[in-house]
Amino acid sequence: MQDAPRFLLGHNSVTVSQPLLITGCKELLTLRGSVPRRGNAMRDLGVVRDGAVLVRDGTIIATGPRRQVARLSEASIAKTLDLGGRVVLPGFVDSHTHLIFPASRAAEYEQRIAGATYEKIARKGGGILSTVRALRRAKPEALKTRALAALRQFAAHGTTTLEAKSGYGLDAQSELAILRLLSELHQEQPVDIHSTFLGAHVVPPEFRGRAEAYVDFLARELIPTIALSGLAEFCDVFCDRGAFTIAQARRVLTAGRSCGLVPRVHAEQLSRTGAARLAIELDAASADHLEKINSADIRSLAASNVVATLLPGCSFHLGLGHYAPARKLLDAGAIVALATDYNPGSSPTLSLPMIMSLACSQMRMSPAEAIAAATINPAFSLRRHTRIGSIEVGKYADLAIFDVEDYREIPYYFGVNYCVMTMKRGEIIYSRDAN
Ligand code: NIG
Ligand code: FE
Repeated sequence: MQDAPRFLLGHNSVTVSQPLLITGCKELLTLRGSVPRRGNAMRDLGVVRDGAVLVRDGTIIATGPRRQVARLSEASIAKTLDLGGRVVLPGFVDSHTHLIFPASRAAEYEQRIAGATYEKIARKGGGILSTVRALRRAKPEALKTRALAALRQFAAHGTTTLEAKSGYGLDAQSELAILRLLSELHQEQPVDIHSTFLGAHVVPPEFRGRAEAYVDFLARELIPTIALSGLAEFCDVFCDRGAFTIAQARRVLTAGRSCGLVPRVHAEQLSRTGAARLAIELDAASADHLEKINSADIRSLAASNVVATLLPGCSFHLGLGHYAPARKLLDAGAIVALATDYNPGSSPTLSLPMIMSLACSQMRMSPAEAIAAATINPAFSLRRHTRIGSIEVGKYADLAIFDVEDYREIPYYFGVNYCVMTMKRGEIIYSRDAN
């Protein structure tokens, strides 16, 4: 609530803030029910027509049809926010971003259009390594200013929680600086940020030709230091051709796990390495990308609790024409999530609605599946599903409000932002009218 009036309630002088009653939800997509979502449950959005949400101290205390919610005694003392007939859904949870980087790589974009490949550019020292060189030279304030601008855009597109990886520093000092910046940003602005250590993004220049020595340094020194700092919750590896092998990835993720960092894996993007199977073996929170998985991988993922996190922005931006087999994963019963993979090389977008458009049009996900994959399932992959990802009593009032008639129009209208308001714990953090 913007002005959060507070008053004394009852004889025991407990201070409580005034509740907020949100009405005018033409379609309220509650996503109530089972977590995580698989199979047919992916299509069950728990839609309430003419819905309402009652919020106190940032938490949902009632939700359902407006007539029922409005009858509650708490509702009679609430301030009302009438959304005027919009589609309201849980704030998006973007479970794969590389938030901190110093500059775009638009020059490489142009080179790729002219025929160079992502991997060829990387082999020549461009790609991720060019961002690493630029980040090491960058001023901390400049990194922060860029990240804050990006976070405002994430919020403007309906995202209320995101995961963010380090991985463009690749030495102790710069990796720690990135993670410290993420922690600062988490404190200072409203979008929640959960951090991942991605020291194993590529082999840094100082270790050129000595990948094993770098992995040794990560496992013995940097991972324990990062874990001790408390600055990361997860540990990720880019396990692929031109990055790290399965054996190296296993060593990094095992080292992380023994210090309490939960594994996530960049798996099977450029080539099939067996990284998805490694993710399952290590009980990773998620296996991300998966463009190159085979039928056995699909069956194994479906039988696991590893979230299959698809990043169609990469295939789109790199012009690969080949997308991860979302339909097969969904039909097999895998826990599917969608994320932007916001980064300067392969997916420079922070719009989950755009990613949902790609998921529907290019990977044949239904609009309902895409919404579950951008809310409750990524909340599960971030281990935050008890507080976010659906509109249910006891969860944070994190809401995305779209100026559309029907939720299917969210992916349908691609490339245009119809998000008109975003709320984080009951506070308006973005409003189109105010911008
Ligand atoms: O998820 N695959 C590795 N990392 C990123 C790309 C990073 C970059 O090109 O800067 C990804 O696609
Ligand atoms: Fe990535």
